[in-house]
Amino acid sequence: MSVVSALPFLKPAHAPVSPGRQRRHTLPASEFRSLNTEDAVSVFELEREAFMSVSGECPLYPDEVRHFLTLCPELSMGWFVEGTLVAFIIGSLWDQDRLTTDALTLHRPRGTTVHVHALAVRRTFRQQGKGSTLMWRYLQYLRCLPHVRRAVLMCEPLLVPFYQKSGFVVQGPSEITVGPLTFVEMQCPVRGHAFMRRNSGC
Ligand SMILES: CC(C)(COP(=O)(O)OP(=O)(O)OC[C@H]1O[C@@H](n2cnc3c(N)ncnc32)[C@H](O)[C@@H]1OP(=O)(O)O)[C@@H](O)C(=O)NCCC(=O)NCCS
Repeated sequence: MSVVSALPFLKPAHAPVSPGRQRRHTLPASEFRSLNTEDAVSVFELEREAFMSVSGECPLYPDEVRHFLTLCPELSMGWFVEGTLVAFIIGSLWDQDRLTTDALTLHRPRGTTVHVHALAVRRTFRQQGKGSTLMWRYLQYLRCLPHVRRAVLMCEPLLVPFYQKSGFVVQGPSEITVGPLTFVEMQCPVRGHAFMRRNSGC
């Protein structure tokens, strides 16, 4: 099954525009799509707003955002409200059971694990269910990708309940630390959902 067959959940970044749609002048009220390098500036601006005040560190530097959006744009998802990016996820493939520091910068195309590097929601859009909804759509989308078996992430301990609500389970403390920050590693299986795939338009 190809990435294209997962499109009910994710519109391509540059979908061909039908003549009938060319006349539309208003921006879509709400749109989910994969990100591309042209979105990198908006992604980093939102990432800075989301993370700098909280932890003083961004999970991805601007060149890393561009790196992943070049290598594996299909593992990203942005939520745009009237054309403005309000939430995003950036992922890449990983090929080991646990995350190591290499996972922070590498995309391993043969891997079957999606490493979720960052989820962020614009401050004025938080506490409205957007983070959970975006993660739900992202996991649904991953279920349509036949080579993907699970999603993993590392988060600060206080966010464990948030990710548990999305179906992630704790794997244990992460070996990765950033300055004084420590992280919990979590995973969510995305395979074995044949019923869901059959009924989700994959
Ligand atoms: C974490 C984040 C993505 C949640 O997005 P959101 O749209 O506000 O989340 P939702 O509205 O879907 O869910 C809200 C729930 O998230 C949890 N939550 C959100 N931020 C939290 C925080 N800083 N600490 C603990 N729990 C938090 C709470 O459980 C909350 O539920 P409650 O209303 O019962 O308290 C968003 O706050 C954000 O972008 N934060 C900064 C970046 C970040 O930390 N990203 C995660 C990196 S691992």
